[in-house]
Amino acid sequence: MADTITETAPSDIQSLEESILANVAGAANEAALEAVRVSALGKKGVISERMKTLGKMPADERKVMGPALNGLKDRVGDAIAAKKAELEDAALEARLATEKVDVTLPVREAAISQGRIHPISQVVDELTAIFADMGFAVAEGPDIETDFYNFTALNIPEEHPARQEHDTFYFNEKEDGSRLVLRTHTSPVQIRTMETIKPPIRVVIPGRVYRCDSDQTHTPMFHQVEALVIDKETHLGHLKWAIEAVCKAFFEVDDVKMRFRASHFPFTEPSMEVDIGCARIGNTLRIGEGNDWLEVGGCGMVHPSVMRYGGLDPDEYQGFAWGIGIDRLAMLKYGMPDLRTFFDGDIRWLRHYGFQPLDIPSLAGGLSR
Ligand code: DAH
Repeated sequence: MADTITETAPSDIQSLEESILANVAGAANEAALEAVRVSALGKKGVISERMKTLGKMPADERKVMGPALNGLKDRVGDAIAAKKAELEDAALEARLATEKVDVTLPVREAAISQGRIHPISQVVDELTAIFADMGFAVAEGPDIETDFYNFTALNIPEEHPARQEHDTFYFNEKEDGSRLVLRTHTSPVQIRTMETIKPPIRVVIPGRVYRCDSDQTHTPMFHQVEALVIDKETHLGHLKWAIEAVCKAFFEVDDVKMRFRASHFPFTEPSMEVDIGCARIGNTLRIGEGNDWLEVGGCGMVHPSVMRYGGLDPDEYQGFAWGIGIDRLAMLKYGMPDLRTFFDGDIRWLRHYGFQPLDIPSLAGGLSR
């Protein structure tokens, strides 16, 4: 193409223009068009070379050639720009035609029949769906915690016996003598939440927790869901109602018998453990009938010192907190006898106990199937 232009008689601007415009029109793609542009308007292009001769021309000749060459330059530039837009449109059309996706096609069977949601993820999704329906927001915190958030701010000072009960995994001591820990519960996120959002607070906190313990019902890493509600007039009645409502929704029953036993946690006052009535038949569990009891966690009214650590005035605010062990609830609801199998990563186990990925738990659509 470049050859055709240089072969054009230099004195004949009209035929030069015809030749360049023919090349522009004939460019099959953007690369070819760019080659035409460089050969005509580039630094060493035919038109640019011709412009350079203007300076040495006698004045009367320049008067004619100057506007003629500038006109040529403009027209060629316009033609190239128009052709470029045309080629871009054509390229886009071609791409859209080949990349067409039919979003109405059914999902390929293979993908959904292979994948499974782990029962723990399922139970976390179920619980957060229930809490979300009650107006709770989800809050999260780090797995690696400071001693302050995991213990001190929760009213568990150094030397407090509760520290031993937690079988904590400690990191190596830092230079200043402090040690990070793997959080032993989700309660530190209570403090982090109080520090970041103003009451009224209504959060649900799912997460991994760690304790140095392992047998049929304990693993070194397990899961908790924490609930925290803080407002000016939050009281024990709200706590009892909320726990009952969540248990009924989670176990998908209309009625549930409840029992609150006095207990002790440093971060609540008063503190209670909650049991719900059930019947155990072999490995299966029926909620809402029978004379057995199933523990569903610890709870209580947030201790004034904990409020103060979280930056809130306990004379102005009060609230309740509730900590639930997820793994055990999952075992009970879905009939899995050994906690350790949760973490084996055995694909056959997951196919058996896992959930369909597209069955997202919701109160309207059903929690489990
Ligand atoms: N953090 C406690 C634990 O892991 C559980 C707990 C008890 C959480 C009472 C609470 C609560 O929020 O009020 O053993």
